[in-house]
Amino acid sequence: MSSDKKAVLHWGDGKSTEFPVLTGTIGPEVVDIRSLYGKTGMFTYDPGFMSTACATSRITYIDGDEGVLLYRGYSIEQLAQSCDFLEVCYLLLNGELPNAKQRGEFVNTVTRHTMVHDQLNRFFTGFRRDAHPMAVMVGVVGALSAFYHDSLDINNPEHRKISAFRLIAKIPTIVAMTYKYSMGQPFVYPRNDLSYSENFMRMMFAVPAEEYKMNPVLVRALDRILILHADHEQNASTSTVRQAGSSGANPFACMAAGIACLWGPAHGGANEACLNMLEEIGDASKIPEFIKQVKDKNSNVKLMGFGHRVYKNYDPRAKLMRETCHEVLNELGLHDDRLFKLAIALEKVALEDEYFVSRKLYPNVDFYSGIVQRALGIPVAMFTCIFALARTVGWIAQWAEMVGDPENKIARPRQLYAGAPRRDVVPLEKR
Ligand code: ACO
Repeated sequence: MSSDKKAVLHWGDGKSTEFPVLTGTIGPEVVDIRSLYGKTGMFTYDPGFMSTACATSRITYIDGDEGVLLYRGYSIEQLAQSCDFLEVCYLLLNGELPNAKQRGEFVNTVTRHTMVHDQLNRFFTGFRRDAHPMAVMVGVVGALSAFYHDSLDINNPEHRKISAFRLIAKIPTIVAMTYKYSMGQPFVYPRNDLSYSENFMRMMFAVPAEEYKMNPVLVRALDRILILHADHEQNASTSTVRQAGSSGANPFACMAAGIACLWGPAHGGANEACLNMLEEIGDASKIPEFIKQVKDKNSNVKLMGFGHRVYKNYDPRAKLMRETCHEVLNELGLHDDRLFKLAIALEKVALEDEYFVSRKLYPNVDFYSGIVQRALGIPVAMFTCIFALARTVGWIAQWAEMVGDPENKIARPRQLYAGAPRRDVVPLEKR
């Protein structure tokens, strides 16, 4: 939204240029510098987007200083308390929470899209059994565009809606198939009488030889993991999805791009890296030595699950995740879980250490999510796939918002060129 405010840039020999200042509903104002190059012949320089808003969005809001996360204006705490994952999906996609009728229809539609084309099964056999599950996910999700030609017209709102349903419904099936393939177990087909999270748990853990018994506490914990990871404004993978989509690429291809970006240990791969780190530390007596390594700039060791580009306070999702961790471990009689106790001890040491305090480094969502997932029986290598499953709705909501935005342009950043200036090719015999 425009305001009467202007930002003035003084440059060159006494020149000055005005730029409009835009205000959102909450959060920092932004200087609209789209005309900067035209007016001054200069670009801005902002590697890693430290101070750059790349889109107008109405979906998610974060106040990193206060530790606040809102989906469509609702706090993550209230949503995690009062809603299930599919209600949150409806909210992210449509802007409002569903009423009972809308909820029923939405759940019914998602449920009826959970099966994947039977030929997609063959993709899995092309991968080694020991392939990293995220490698399989990038390939198989990208391949969906080869199966669902009838919903690829991105300018058709109905097609965008069908693709959103297909993605939200089929990703759990694909994640579970990825796991089953790695285990050498048969795929378990979805069942329409189960809830979204129940269905996923069954596809992951049921085997044909026996009846699968559902534990409601664990199902609820999974549902909460999904809610907490559903969206997070313009993070690395979401902006990757937007960037890929800005060229007009189809939504399945864009999701594959998002999954690839999420895989990195600085982003969604942190939950896997965090659990591996806890295993490596092994024992509370080793914490001081580990913290010393983290503080040594030459060591390249990071305290995984700590720190965040936006949160300079406790990540609200980490608080909820720690609560869920307690619930799950109590339910399973694992009050004394070695890694959970170690994580709590490590968190306490870090939160009192000057290095972390002065840099405002707090636990992020990944610090506890690995412990919960491990307790649910999900293997470490699958952790980031669960994140991808949850984030799919955020990616597709943000993608659809971008495609429908009249201000959308192909994302084409510029650069500060520091390479060789123009020169002539020297003939081969003279080089
Ligand atoms: N351990 C040790 N030091 C850290 C950590 C950490 N986890 N995170 C940041 N720092 C230090 C940096 O070394 C830097 O120190 P300096 O000022 O002395 O150079 C300072 O804190 C600022 O950190 P930056 O790297 O500049 O912060 P940035 O915003 O670029 O990075 C990131 C954020 C990538 C999340 C970083 O904190 C990190 O690598 N954390 C560990 C990985 C992780 O948990 N990722 C999950 C993020 S949440 C998510 O994706 C769901």
